[in-house]
Amino acid sequence: MLLAVVLTVIAVVSTLTIRAFLMSQLDQRVIDAGARAGPGVVVHLGAPPGEPPGLDFLRGPGVEPDAVGVRRFPDGTVSGAVLDGGTPPRLRELTREQTEAVLGIPADAEPHTLSVPGLGDYRLITVGHPDSGELVVTGVPMASVQEAIQQVLTVEVVVSAAGLVAAGLALVVVVKLALRPLRRVAGTAIRVSGQNLHEGEVEWLERVPAADTDPRTEVGQVGASLNRLLDHVTAALTARHATETRVRQFVADASHELRTPLASIRGYAELTRRGRAELPPDAAHAMRRVEAEATRMTSLVEDLLLLARLDAGRPLERTRVDLSPLVIDAVSDARAAGPGHHWRLTVPDEPLHVSADPARLQQVLVNLLANARTHTPPGTVVTTSLARLDGDAVELRVTDNGPGIAPEVLPNVFERFVRGDTSRSRSAGSTGLGLAIVAAVVAAHAGTVGVASAPGRTSFTVRLPAVNSQAGHSGSTPA
Ligand SMILES: Nc1ncnc2c1ncn2[C@@H]1O[C@H](COP(=O)(O)OP(=O)(O)OP(=O)(O)O)[C@@H](O)[C@H]1O
Ligand SMILES: [Mg+2]
Repeated sequence: MLLAVVLTVIAVVSTLTIRAFLMSQLDQRVIDAGARAGPGVVVHLGAPPGEPPGLDFLRGPGVEPDAVGVRRFPDGTVSGAVLDGGTPPRLRELTREQTEAVLGIPADAEPHTLSVPGLGDYRLITVGHPDSGELVVTGVPMASVQEAIQQVLTVEVVVSAAGLVAAGLALVVVVKLALRPLRRVAGTAIRVSGQNLHEGEVEWLERVPAADTDPRTEVGQVGASLNRLLDHVTAALTARHATETRVRQFVADASHELRTPLASIRGYAELTRRGRAELPPDAAHAMRRVEAEATRMTSLVEDLLLLARLDAGRPLERTRVDLSPLVIDAVSDARAAGPGHHWRLTVPDEPLHVSADPARLQQVLVNLLANARTHTPPGTVVTTSLARLDGDAVELRVTDNGPGIAPEVLPNVFERFVRGDTSRSRSAGSTGLGLAIVAAVVAAHAGTVGVASAPGRTSFTVRLPAVNSQAGHSGSTPA
């Protein structure tokens, strides 16, 4: 754009300059012609037959072809002619209209521009005799000047266009070359930003190649800074991972160590309660409470230990498990624990195998069914269904028509220690780890778990990859 503006300005200025120069030359010629033809200059009235009188100065030396001349004699008669370019040169009489147009210019002995009808643009000068009233108008055509200007303009436009195209191409090439290092640096940044950095052990992070870290260039400074930043990020991530690992190890160790003393407390409390000696009623109550709290703490410790182990990425004991009997057993247990609820079960009549740790899957089922039991009032219908999905997946769904999960809890319901703080859940000894365990176990099995909840319908959906690919009949029979 800048170049185009500059080229345009140059073209306009140079054209105007050339035009002014050519016009001044033309004016000089007109003035000279006028001086030669002016009134008082000897006129040969004996014009050749058929030619207008008093204009033979047009045939004189230095008059160019197509020059016009008009003379008004003192008696008012007018004669006008244009010089024919042929050999020998001849004078052609002007029409009345042309003559009148030529006489219309101011008689001030200055050159004027006029478009003579039928002849084109002329530069004309009028010289008058103050006493006799005689007038002579002389004019030379502007065609030569116009042609010259036209040519200059054409050349300027062509050269400018070619220059613009060449400059544009050169610019593209130069910019591309100049930006190549920056593009390499950007490529590194893009690839690193695509890596998974928010959890787990840090993978090696790519660095900007040494060639693009020269601090003497701007791009090199960017590259070097990026590398420094990546060093810091790697160090921070490594530190984070080490801390996480330590905390996990600590939780796992602490949970493990707590199991034995908890079992002892439980055992002694039970022993005392059932002992021979009759306990006073408040002591018996205290022992029952000690036992109940110890039991609750044991399950909490077990949950923590399981989560710590899953976090540590311990490999699962994988076997080929048929989900149907597992689900049937879990629902039977839930029915026994919650006789006030209505339990429904749908399993397909073909086996549904997954590669899994059966004890962990059992825990998933127990946690989901326990939630459906403890977080809903009696009379709630809980439907458990198992089905094979297209694309080799198994879907387990636990749906209840209870009051639903509180909206403020729902988005984080799979996180640890997140629970709806109702009096019911507190009295049932809720810790908020149940769904966290579900999520961790399902993730360890390369599955997904989702929840949809509204008052009257809460549904947990677990999907696990199936092992056998026998497709086909997947009809369900109510059990
Ligand atoms: N089926 C459900 N209906 C209504 N609310 C539910 C349901 N399932 C879960 N919730 C809500 O989600 C919260 C988190 O559930 P989660 O199983 O993680 O913890 P918890 O049941 O409170 O404790 P825990 O299972 O460790 O004993 C619960 O406290 C409860 O408010
Ligand atoms: Mg629960």
